[in-house]
Amino acid sequence: MSRNIERIETGIPGLDELIEGGFVKDNAILVTGSTGTGKTIFCSQFIWEGLVKGENCMFITFEERPDKIKQEALDFGWDLQKYEDNGQLKIRHKDPFDTAEGDELFWFRNELEKYNVDRLAMDSTSILSLYYDDQYKVRENLFKMVRTIEEAGVTALLTTEVEEGQDNLTRFGVEEFLVDGVIKLDILYMGSGSSRSLSVRKMRRTNHDTKSHGMMITDQGLKVSE
Ligand SMILES: Nc1ncnc2c1ncn2[C@@H]1O[C@H](COP(=O)(O)OP(=O)(O)OP(=O)(O)O)[C@@H](O)[C@H]1O
Ligand SMILES: [Mg+2]
Repeated sequence: MSRNIERIETGIPGLDELIEGGFVKDNAILVTGSTGTGKTIFCSQFIWEGLVKGENCMFITFEERPDKIKQEALDFGWDLQKYEDNGQLKIRHKDPFDTAEGDELFWFRNELEKYNVDRLAMDSTSILSLYYDDQYKVRENLFKMVRTIEEAGVTALLTTEVEEGQDNLTRFGVEEFLVDGVIKLDILYMGSGSSRSLSVRKMRRTNHDTKSHGMMITDQGLKVSE
């Protein structure tokens, strides 16, 4: 085969097998799902995989505070604090109302370069809509953000929230076109129980599986089953 594509293991058991071994290095991947589908856990698990492999990682959280992210990760056995202490992990909490428009991208590019970030998680981009007063601006800034990620040579996981029961992959219907891959998380309630699923909706340069797969959240994190 002539293709020689470097792949980044996701850290989610069962997922890499669906996407030829992992995310394409330096790609931006979007994880989309309604509330409680496991987007934040996905981020922590992806970051943990990078840390264990010796990569420089950054977790940008727009919603939950860093101490909560760390506490929740620790519940799964992922001691993020240890890697924050040794300098391999940077966790940044961004308050969307804090920063002047325009400064944001400058800050972002700077951070990625300064720490030579290999692996990035950004949870969640939905809140960007609060930054800017019109949708055009939201799209424009998402576009610039994805381009910055590409230019910085970072493998990135972005999350976005969709309302429950919606068929749309994303709120603005545009994020999915900007990124290199889209993974959709679902939770289906039936009678007294519920079942989780994961599907790969798009993965550039990858002969990926297109089926919906069962997914579990256990005390060890996310796991894709059959
Ligand atoms: N130890 C555990 N075992 C099983 N399931 C768990 C465990 N811990 C958390 N969960 C499940 O994970 C869910 C939370 O996942 P997560 O915070 O990643 O969701 P999210 O998609 O980020 O949601 P939000 O929209 O609130 O940000 C919980 O609602 C619960 O269903
Ligand atoms: Mg979350």
